[in-house]
Amino acid sequence: MKVDSATIKKRYNRIAPYFDAMEAIMEGLFFKTWRKKLWSKVEGYHILEVGVGTGKNFEFYPIEAQLTAIDFSEKMLKQALHNKHRKGVTVALDLMDIQSLAFADNSFDTVIGSFVFCSVPLPVKGLKELYRVCRPGGQLLLLEHVISSNTFIAKLMNIINPVILTLIGANINRNTVKNVKACGFSSVRIDERSGPIIKLIEARK
Ligand SMILES: C[S@@+](CC[C@H](N)C(=O)[O-])C[C@H]1O[C@@H](n2cnc3c(N)ncnc32)[C@H](O)[C@@H]1O
Repeated sequence: MKVDSATIKKRYNRIAPYFDAMEAIMEGLFFKTWRKKLWSKVEGYHILEVGVGTGKNFEFYPIEAQLTAIDFSEKMLKQALHNKHRKGVTVALDLMDIQSLAFADNSFDTVIGSFVFCSVPLPVKGLKELYRVCRPGGQLLLLEHVISSNTFIAKLMNIINPVILTLIGANINRNTVKNVKACGFSSVRIDERSGPIIKLIEARK
């Protein structure tokens, strides 16, 4: 089941006002700890966060860095703007599609995202853009849920994927590690604390 960018955007625009409430339990139980681990690995001064959503990573932004964050959903970005002012965060927020970034080649020391490539309509195209804007030697950091390595669970995930995609615009059966490897990044590794579904992926350009 393939869904285009306009449809995914519409789904995120629709859920934007409820997004934080919808994820509150998972956020408190698991995601927050993972976000902390992800952001502890950031290097360099010029940092790009892709698919910023409502700005749940703001509290982990390094203080001595220049942050840029993008999202293609106007309504998610509106929530992020609200949270930026509320929390007093310094970040340039831009409405932009990961699949065609408006930044010059080699612009960022770290490109980072959490729970984004489940919904990017053309993930390999998007990852190639992340590679392009990352400087040579710079890093890609992703926190993603992926299809399980357990065959039985993977089959279930494939079966229910169309329902989840229709409801919230996210795929639960993506193989994002394989996709990162296919986009030119070197030394792609998974943090050893990762589980069978949630992966902290580190790669270098
Ligand atoms: C599941 S939310 C995660 C938001 C946030 N990163 C977090 O950890 O809470 C996925 C976000 O990615 C954004 N997104 C999906 N595809 C995108 C694309 N092609 N370009 C820019 N943003 C995209 C969605 O609009 C949404 O805000």
